[in-house]
Amino acid sequence: MSGLLAGKRLLVTGVITDASIAFSVAKLAQENGAQVVLTGYGRLSLVERIARRLPEPAPVIELDVTDAEHLAGLADKVREHADGLDGVVHSIGFAPQSCLGGGFLDAPWEDVATALHVSTYSYKSLAMAALPLMSPGGAVVGLTFDATKAWPVYDWMGVAKAGLESASRYLALHLGKQGIRSNLVAAGPLRTIAAKSIPGFERFEDAWAERAPLGWSLTDQEPAARACLALLSDWFPATTGEIVHVDGGYHAIGS
Ligand SMILES: NC(=O)c1ccc[n+]([C@@H]2O[C@H](COP(=O)([O-])OP(=O)(O)OC[C@H]3O[C@@H](n4cnc5c(N)ncnc54)[C@H](O)[C@@H]3O)[C@@H](O)[C@H]2O)c1
Repeated sequence: MSGLLAGKRLLVTGVITDASIAFSVAKLAQENGAQVVLTGYGRLSLVERIARRLPEPAPVIELDVTDAEHLAGLADKVREHADGLDGVVHSIGFAPQSCLGGGFLDAPWEDVATALHVSTYSYKSLAMAALPLMSPGGAVVGLTFDATKAWPVYDWMGVAKAGLESASRYLALHLGKQGIRSNLVAAGPLRTIAAKSIPGFERFEDAWAERAPLGWSLTDQEPAARACLALLSDWFPATTGEIVHVDGGYHAIGS
């Protein structure tokens, strides 16, 4: 087997359509020699159908990251398909509508709590659920949207991402002794189901078109996926707690 991830066994969460960032990660990972196990949330039959579009049809395990039983059973379910894990991809985000689109001042705590549970705390939960299968050299990679700034319309999802960025650093701290890395990819805007659920998302699209020095495609998930692969590979052996921007350079440019 050849390729950047030859022989690596990966658990990839977050596939819901073939536009999902996770779908591109799974596809590229297989093309680069990895064995991929997917998890799916909610519409399992849809995820299974999408999984069959991968170069190698991948098994799908049901996982709601807020469900303690699902998390407790995850390692055993993965063992039915792989004898261990070299990498875990967290490509999960959700916030109730009240938390997005300008609702920052009015969103109730119950909704904010849901956003934080699914989008922030789950990064740690997923890593811990997979940990029994991991060994030194393993990597956890997640997806963020640059949380150093307050964005119009992103609201509590922005707070959730700020928490995710911090959680990744703490995971790096606590899993470092076991030789496991934790890194994030900060992607620019991409037209996925999650993105379409944000009222006013086109404001990001316009901003990126105007300002990203390298230009930016709203429909090309591959650059973000490639960065995930690099971080999962053996080519970042001494990098953890890091955030790699895959945004056409937008974050580096003032206006
Ligand atoms: N699309 C963008 O513009 C963009 C930019 C930067 C970062 N991101 C991040 O990338 C990640 C993937 O999102 P995407 O854009 O590919 O959208 P997507 O809608 O394709 O994927 C989001 C996934 O989260 C899953 N999910 C939601 N609630 C869940 C739960 N309780 N348990 C398990 N899974 C759950 C959904 O099933 C879905 O597969 C998210 O963290 C998102 O915030 C997206």
